[in-house]
Amino acid sequence: MGAGFVSVAYVVASILFILSLGGLSHQESARRGNFYGIAGIIIAVCATIAGVSMGVGGIVSIVIAILIGASVGMFLANRVEMTQMPQLVALLHSFVGLAAVFVGFAGYLDPLVMTHGAEHTIKLVEVFLGIFIGAITFTGSLIACGKLDGRISSSALTLPGRHIMNLVALGCTLLLGAWFLGADSVAGGMFPLIVMTVIAGILGVHLILAIGGADMPVVVSMLNSYSGWAAASIGFMLGNDLLIVTGALVGSSGAILSYIMCRAMNRSFMSVILGGFGQTTSSAASEVDSDLTVQECSTDDLCEELNMAESVIIVPGYGMAVAQAQNAVGEITKLLRDRGVKVRFGIHPVAGRLPGHMNVLLAEAKVPYDIVLEMDELNDDFPTTDVVLVIGANDTVNPAAMDDPTSPIAGMPVMEVWKSSLVVVFKRGMASGYAGVQNPLFFKENTRMLFGDAKDSVDKLLGGLRG
Ligand code: TAP
Repeated sequence: MGAGFVSVAYVVASILFILSLGGLSHQESARRGNFYGIAGIIIAVCATIAGVSMGVGGIVSIVIAILIGASVGMFLANRVEMTQMPQLVALLHSFVGLAAVFVGFAGYLDPLVMTHGAEHTIKLVEVFLGIFIGAITFTGSLIACGKLDGRISSSALTLPGRHIMNLVALGCTLLLGAWFLGADSVAGGMFPLIVMTVIAGILGVHLILAIGGADMPVVVSMLNSYSGWAAASIGFMLGNDLLIVTGALVGSSGAILSYIMCRAMNRSFMSVILGGFGQTTSSAASEVDSDLTVQECSTDDLCEELNMAESVIIVPGYGMAVAQAQNAVGEITKLLRDRGVKVRFGIHPVAGRLPGHMNVLLAEAKVPYDIVLEMDELNDDFPTTDVVLVIGANDTVNPAAMDDPTSPIAGMPVMEVWKSSLVVVFKRGMASGYAGVQNPLFFKENTRMLFGDAKDSVDKLLGGLRG
């Protein structure tokens, strides 16, 4: 295929990727956005293969690699539960990082194009940066995956002098970079490159271990951004414009999402990156007076309350995803709406374990999009709401974030559910949420606890409402 056709195909693919991002920003258009993305990537892969002159052997090996990759991807996607999606995303980011490391080494040892003078120096900087970002993304994403999966403790590892350690690692990287650029042969440049890769890998582990569980959403999207920049640097190395554009799109959209999430948690981006948040969960700030008791209620009691209610807000959280209670919640919603009750859903920006987690579950349960509102759209309506059902949410409805400046989650905006007439919390016991802090909401005068698996409780409630 001629270079002109390849360029046109790259432009078309870039436009499709931009349309895909636009589509994915709204539930109604998300499916269309996915199709744009799929079409873009098919065009991109075909144009790239067609644009490189290679023998039959090369094409066969690419087809085999695509088949293996597609099979592993389909196997993973079919097996993974919705609740395990964040771990999968983190694991996939690690692949992008590893690819950047491999391509960097390959591009250095066996460059596609021979370069000289300033051009050669720029190329070496691209190789060095690509491998550096790739190695951090690779190991950091594996640690994030382990933390989200519960294999690694979600509390922040705060080694003494950790900031100094990070600075020393960065200083060593700069020195190794100077050594690498000054090397007079490929063999001479390999040593600083390998040492830098090891240091970047350790830095990735340390940076993410130092970040506490409550900040993991930001970390996942930050690693998403890193994987985009790693892909862009591979694009520079390979002289592939489409990879540069795609990498920049992923890198910048991940960075914007990280910023939006930081704002939603009232945290500065730097304080998240520097880590250390989330380790103070045993402080007095997070403990609740042991004299306080909770008030329980049964599904029958709740049925009566709902039969009298005129307005209901449902606040779902991670527990609804674990219990897979969304379909039964959707049926209760339909039943109440058919009876003329005003039912709405309140979605906290970091409810669940990944951005949009709750929206996806509610879409699966066919809850109409127009009653699924964001925290800012609903927070003023709680005082005029009769019943709030908190289904498997905890940190996102914790009043300590507003009332207690010493709380580890102080300053994080939360759903102000306690301002309604009655709050019913569906959960199995008194365990804390992801951030590991106690929740004073459970002890409030107008709060009732409905203990048990959320799916069982919601099923019983549905049966009771149907009479
Ligand atoms: P959490 O604060 O994690 O609370 C979930 C609650 O669900 C737990 O208290 C748990 O209590 C309950 N639960 C678990 N399984 C249940 C079941 N089968 N039936 C009933 N209840 C069940 O959830 P949240 O309010 O959605 O807050 C999200 C947290 O995750 C935030 O701290 C956020 O920072 C963090 N996070 C978010 C993301 C993103 S991007 N959304 C990513 C990573 C981390 P019991 O064990 O007592 O039942």
